[in-house]
Amino acid sequence: MEKKKESKLIFSGVQPTGNLHLGNYLGAIKNWVKYQEDSNCIFCIVDLHAITVSENREKILDNTREVAAAYIASGIDPNKNTIFVQSNVTGHSELSWILSCHTPIGWLNRMTQFKDKAGKNKEKAPLGLYSYPVLMAADILLYKSTHVPVGEDQKQHLELSRDVAQAFNRYYNQEFFPIPEPIITGTATRVMSLKNGLNKMSKSDPSDQSRINLMDDSISIIKKIQKARTDSEPFPKSLEEMDNRPEINNLINIFSALSEDLPQNVVAQYVGKDFKFFKEDLSDLVNQKISNISTEMHKLLKDLNYLDLILKKGCQKANEIAEKNVKDLKKIIGFFEA
Ligand code: TYM
Repeated sequence: MEKKKESKLIFSGVQPTGNLHLGNYLGAIKNWVKYQEDSNCIFCIVDLHAITVSENREKILDNTREVAAAYIASGIDPNKNTIFVQSNVTGHSELSWILSCHTPIGWLNRMTQFKDKAGKNKEKAPLGLYSYPVLMAADILLYKSTHVPVGEDQKQHLELSRDVAQAFNRYYNQEFFPIPEPIITGTATRVMSLKNGLNKMSKSDPSDQSRINLMDDSISIIKKIQKARTDSEPFPKSLEEMDNRPEINNLINIFSALSEDLPQNVVAQYVGKDFKFFKEDLSDLVNQKISNISTEMHKLLKDLNYLDLILKKGCQKANEIAEKNVKDLKKIIGFFEA
């Protein structure tokens, strides 16, 4: 492996829950690609997280391979980075337990994602869904990661990871864990549903029309963008005009992220024109970027031996770091060493 900046360690992950979408790509995976040139990067497929929701359990293996294929198809080089499956490295669960002993329940009670996912049925929600953010802290801290590139919806979980790292360090009076920095950048840190600009684009939205999946074909992409909700007003003249128009705001931000141009330049390009032209160009743009990924994903998913080999190698590399860090950690705690 070529020499990279030793001090920086990037970690991030995606849940294998199926329906990987444009939000996952623009908010997370696309940004990871640029870090691989000058940083050590670990990209995890977080299957232990996925089983916190019963609907995700059935197709866990297929969905795990789908995420691996999406990483590679998006440009993450498996020779330059570590790509692996969370459940293959036991350190995640082990550290999660240790960190849960340093996490006050009050911190978890503030987590909005649990409230959203558990809904009214909090009493019946699984414990794993509640303690999910502690496992996420363990994922990051197990490798002593310094930077975590994610979409905006993960911000609160990352703040908790920082608090837990500090709590552990303080308790044992050591600087064992670096305090991980979230990286939330770009114009598409929160891609919204194509059907309702107030809801996040999500893998679990029952309407497939609400999202562009990374494996959609070009006809579906064109149809979904044509039908994407807008309003009856003309194309905005300025960024300020977009403030109360969430659907327009979302489409312009997607355009901006894909074309790597500023939203104000996108607005300037289409002001005075019919929405139809903007949507046609947006479809072309999405198709250009996504169709390569989609084709490559389909190809990779036909070669499971290749994909599985990458995940096995990744597991070995991740385990090497994890085992050493868990060993050091146990020494700090003072556990008996057999
Ligand atoms: P997950 O699987 O929900 O999403 C994976 C990544 O995609 C981002 N994302 C979005 N970005 C912009 N717009 C959207 N609509 C959108 N939807 C999802 C997410 O922010 C995320 O970066 N808890 C995490 C997985 C995880 C993790 C970790 C991440 C577990 N352990 C450690 C980083 C570090 C999750 O559920 O992501």
